[in-house]
Amino acid sequence: MSRLAYVNGRFLRQGDAGVSIEDRGYQLGDGIYEVWAVIDGKLADAEGHFVRLKRSLGELQIDMPMSREALTVALRETVRRNRVRYGIVYLQVTRGVARRDHAFPTVPVAPTVVITARSIDRDGAEAKAAKGVSVITLPDNRWGRCDIKTINLLPNVLAKQAAKEEGGFEALLVDADGLVTEGASSNAWIVDREGVLRTRDTGANILRGVTRLSIIDVARQAGYKVEERPFTVAEAKAAREVFVTGAGALVMPVVRIDDSPVGNGHPGEVASALRAAYIEHVTQTAV
Ligand code: PDD
Repeated sequence: MSRLAYVNGRFLRQGDAGVSIEDRGYQLGDGIYEVWAVIDGKLADAEGHFVRLKRSLGELQIDMPMSREALTVALRETVRRNRVRYGIVYLQVTRGVARRDHAFPTVPVAPTVVITARSIDRDGAEAKAAKGVSVITLPDNRWGRCDIKTINLLPNVLAKQAAKEEGGFEALLVDADGLVTEGASSNAWIVDREGVLRTRDTGANILRGVTRLSIIDVARQAGYKVEERPFTVAEAKAAREVFVTGAGALVMPVVRIDDSPVGNGHPGEVASALRAAYIEHVTQTAV
């Protein structure tokens, strides 16, 4: 079955789909994106991603390309037509097509909207989570507005590639004060020596992960103490547990940071329990 992409209101075979070479996303990175996890063919944490989408667009002064209802239909239809039961759906909105010029087009142009969806092997993902992953640490050299989910991902791309070359799953990015900000495509968490769950506060230069926010709720409901408080690389290496969260990885236990094993080198019980609780939560609430 060939994959289908939604491009500005039409479903096209992905191999045939395209946008103009003068799309400002392509030429200037002038656009934003969202990723929803798909669970049982439905959108996980739908509300949180819509709220962030609206915010990202607002920060770039791009209008919502269509109503939330219409967008929901397009997202769900992309998922359905690609027969995705478990995976992700990707939405990209750019400022649109105009002659290349850094400043916004003077004549209003319609945003470019692209949606794609793909399956993730659920058993493979569970096996990975059961084994745990390794991560590397790298300086965070991104711009100062990482709260906006823009398609400008070059530092993240390079960090992820560096991690991959070391056999790692993710790179934890570290700011000038030696504090972990987040992962290249995930938020980072520890269970510290006192058993407290810690993740970076949103006052820092990080993406406000939708999964992160849900996990804070899920964890508190399960009786864990959660603090939005920074941690150093040394604290992460000495922590009881480390894990990362995001729409792609959901909750992924980290068992090695650089050359140091985390805890006993196996996924911790908090991370494993939260992964199960989060999947249960989104299975109940997905739309
Ligand atoms: N990445 N931080 C960064 C830099 C991210 O790119 C992501 C998500 C997250 C987690 O956010 P959320 O829980 O809302 O997915 C944190 C997506 C999945 C991606 O780029 O594919």
